Amino acid sequence: MDLASFARSLEALEERALSSVAAAASPDDLARVDAEILGRKGELRELLGGIGALPTEDRPRVGALANPIRERLEAAIAARREDLELAAVEARLAAEALDVTLPARPLHRGSLHPIRETEREISRIFGQFGFVVVESPEVETDELNFQALNIPEDHPARDLWDTIYLREPTERPAGAPRRLFRTHTSPGQIRAMRASTPPIRILTPGRCFRYEAVDASHAFEFFQVEGLMIDEGTSMADLRGLLDAFAHAMFGAGRPTRFRPGYYPFTEPSVAFDIGCVVCDGSGCPACGRSGWMTILGAGMVHPVVLRNGGIDPERYQGFAFGMGTDRITMLRHAIRDIRAFLANDLRFLERL
Ligand code: DAH
Repeated sequence: MDLASFARSLEALEERALSSVAAAASPDDLARVDAEILGRKGELRELLGGIGALPTEDRPRVGALANPIRERLEAAIAARREDLELAAVEARLAAEALDVTLPARPLHRGSLHPIRETEREISRIFGQFGFVVVESPEVETDELNFQALNIPEDHPARDLWDTIYLREPTERPAGAPRRLFRTHTSPGQIRAMRASTPPIRILTPGRCFRYEAVDASHAFEFFQVEGLMIDEGTSMADLRGLLDAFAHAMFGAGRPTRFRPGYYPFTEPSVAFDIGCVVCDGSGCPACGRSGWMTILGAGMVHPVVLRNGGIDPERYQGFAFGMGTDRITMLRHAIRDIRAFLANDLRFLERL
């Protein structure tokens, strides 16, 4: 063999190799072609292994012939590899395409129950005047729900609260207090007085229960917020100022307010606190019985007997208390007509607020 035919063999190898590289259809395919041509047992090595058949003086020139071929082949393989990898990425992108113009699925977020939201708003407003929220139990004793609030057993005033008494699992031991579902949040007043000393400014929001025939404005399970303030020199004027500020924050700055005489056994004097009708703004409509006024809470100066029952000296301290129906306030805020909606668990109602 002479150098010229060796050079032709090299050229033929290059030509074949370049077409194999061009034909490689995948990175794996290409790696196989690479090994077959340039690998340790590849065709190029094998060909160069035949160098011994050349005349001795020609052998040093083989490198000059073979090296450019090797370099061109290496470059061709690298270029093909890049093309194949790019094509693989593009194929994957096409296969996994996301249509970002599709509308998203709606995300369901929870929200506060309207009653709870009103409760928080009431607490926020009175919080600005230093009132703090305390909790009081839903199951109460007859003593705290009634007697300590100046409502003795068998007193006709009990008719104001249709009461659900508990059936005890066993016979009540003699002297053990009779238990009931609290009919109002007012027992929280006694608990607060007994648990601390004046000055006292507390709110007790919570669930109450009455033995009621249910209709659009009566539920046997409903909500109240109680307020109590006790200090030296506390007066009816302070109560009026505070309730005005509350009514204006809750129902708008220009809203008219008034006190009307009322009756509660635990306050003396007692009042009903009215605001100008939120439906007709005072001109008179069915919602306010054509009076132009709506009662939003009961209030008064804490009765001395109640102060004494709470362990507070009525000669030194005075206080006022108020109690409002959270359901009613919420109904007025959102123009809700039926109190039963609050506990019906109808998502269409809950999501609209
Ligand atoms: N407890 C009363 C009720 O359930 C509301 C109330 C009226 C609470 C006057 C008070 C008050 O603290 O002073 O109807």
